[in-house]
Amino acid sequence: MDEHLARRPLGPRDRLARTSVPIHPPIAARWSPRAFDPSAVVSRHDLTALVEAARWSATWGHREPVRYVVGIRVDETFTTLAGLLKRGNSYARAAGALILVCADEGEDERTARYAAVDAGAAIAALSIEAVSRGLIAHPMAGFDTDGARRAFDLPAGLRPLAVIAVGSLGDYAQADAAVVERDSRPRERLPLDRLVLNWPL
Ligand SMILES: Cc1cc2nc3c(=O)[nH]c(=O)nc-3n(C[C@H](O)[C@H](O)[C@H](O)COP(=O)(O)O)c2cc1C
Repeated sequence: MDEHLARRPLGPRDRLARTSVPIHPPIAARWSPRAFDPSAVVSRHDLTALVEAARWSATWGHREPVRYVVGIRVDETFTTLAGLLKRGNSYARAAGALILVCADEGEDERTARYAAVDAGAAIAALSIEAVSRGLIAHPMAGFDTDGARRAFDLPAGLRPLAVIAVGSLGDYAQADAAVVERDSRPRERLPLDRLVLNWPL
């Protein structure tokens, strides 16, 4: 690993999105850190605000199909969610909270599709609210979904989609080398002319 990268202090300001025009600052500042401060507490007030932000996201047909299970370190729910994470996501055990996001898939393929779209919108709103409060949020699909169904006795049709780790940015000097390496990589995105099919606007 490049020693310079390993020593470089990482913080939200180092990871700002490079945009062609200015955008809403919390969107530019959002990224998915893997170093959580293991002693930082996420307040119930902040957690409530995150779920509020998710609650008020757009919803197809006004179905409101997204459901959450919230664990706060070190309650039983948190411990269960932490135990369901895939090994590569074990960094998230240091988060202040873990939020399981599920979607009620309904009776047909179309309803299921838009339930997942709603869940994505909710995750986005929750993440931006977190950043605007000085927190970090990292969504993860790497967890045992069948284990989540069993552990929380989820009704049939409610599909576990992601676990979001929420907390405060940790100290990269204390982080695993693999985490430092991964989070030191430049943040890249496809150029706008690859994303917008009728570019230039
Ligand atoms: C649906 C979804 C699932 C993801 N699952 C994981 C995961 O299991 N583990 C992980 O470390 N990151 C996961 N991520 C985070 C992505 O790796 C991250 O968003 C991507 O590398 C872009 O980096 P950025 O969010 O810092 O811009 C997931 C993101 C999304 C949207």
